[in-house]
Amino acid sequence: MSKLQIKNLTKNFGNTKILEDLNLKIEEGEFVVLVGPSGSGKSTILRIIAGLETPSTGEVLINNEIINDLKPKDRDIAMVFQNYALYPHMNVFDNLAFPLKMKNIDKKTINKSVNDISSMLGIQHYLTKKPKELSGGERQRVALGRAIIRKPQLFLMDEPLSNLDAKLRTQMRAELLKLHKTLSSTVIYVTHDQIEALTMGNKIAVLNHGKMQQVGTPSDIYNNPTNTFVAGFIGNPGMNFFDLKIIDDSKIMFYDQIITLNPKISLIPKEKDLLNKKIILGVRPEHLFVTQEKDITFNATIDLIEMLGNEFLIYANLKTGGSNFSIRLTENSALKRNEQIKVAIDLSKALFFNEDTGKRIYC
Ligand SMILES: Nc1ncnc2c1ncn2[C@@H]1O[C@H](COP(=O)(O)OP(=O)(O)O)[C@@H](O)[C@H]1O
Ligand SMILES: [Mg+2]
Repeated sequence: MSKLQIKNLTKNFGNTKILEDLNLKIEEGEFVVLVGPSGSGKSTILRIIAGLETPSTGEVLINNEIINDLKPKDRDIAMVFQNYALYPHMNVFDNLAFPLKMKNIDKKTINKSVNDISSMLGIQHYLTKKPKELSGGERQRVALGRAIIRKPQLFLMDEPLSNLDAKLRTQMRAELLKLHKTLSSTVIYVTHDQIEALTMGNKIAVLNHGKMQQVGTPSDIYNNPTNTFVAGFIGNPGMNFFDLKIIDDSKIMFYDQIITLNPKISLIPKEKDLLNKKIILGVRPEHLFVTQEKDITFNATIDLIEMLGNEFLIYANLKTGGSNFSIRLTENSALKRNEQIKVAIDLSKALFFNEDTGKRIYC
């Protein structure tokens, strides 16, 4: 249980900048998800926190104390990896007991800890089995148990569920969250899966190319992304982007259409320097409609329809060019591939971004 802070952290490997001026504050007992594409620097951050890698500049603090010079074993941090390495020749009991034996803890205490942890994780019936006799999920639970048993101050989990099948992954996500509640420990959980991030974190930190893009609650990140990267990366599929130009107080240009929006123009940013400049209009797939007249209505062609059980995803393209986009529909419709449709945008749900920097423009 501890507070963690990363201050102005940078990491270079040779001449390559891997992490750039990172800052992150994690309160005691928080479950924070660090999410970003593969190669964005997530594992490097965890390795620096654990002391397995040294930062080029910047500081790591636990409970307001700089720990840069502490050896990994003195940091009281447990790490759980995707490739959990259990000792193959030891049974589950001995695998769980190992970290405590290393600390010369007495046998009675070890027995009690192993029993407590194994029943908490539902592996109490496997104590005499060897890892190879267990399923992937059971093995991952043993690995978790081995990390938990030392009761470390801080857990670092690096994509711990990515080797499990989809159903087991969903189940283990719920179990991890339950476990976090029971232990009230501080956890940093790394994933490249934005759905995992949205469902697990009470705080999400989004990383891209070694730079922190945004830190916030799942609803902040989803509804109020600060830039086009976060808007496009979070959500499945991500936010749609369209080109827009503001002509004057009442007119906008949407590709080749001039649309009069008075008085709805108030929903569009009006800074003078944006006039007659292309800006990016961002809309979530669930805020696009087929054939309901709204503020902006345009023609498109359906490329693909995906049935996802409780919803439909329509992938379509604009006649006038621009990137392809997606529409989320919750009701079955008679729409077909290659069909021409009229699509409408509700401006009150749209966001705006600077075309050059990708940064959000607020109204
Ligand atoms: N020891 C290393 N030497 C050189 N480059 C490295 C080393 N470790 C990681 N990198 C590079 O740093 C970048 C970030 O890697 P990593 O932190 O593993 O990303 P992630 O975990 O987000 O996939 C990658 O481009 C990777 O190739
Ligand atoms: Mg990684």
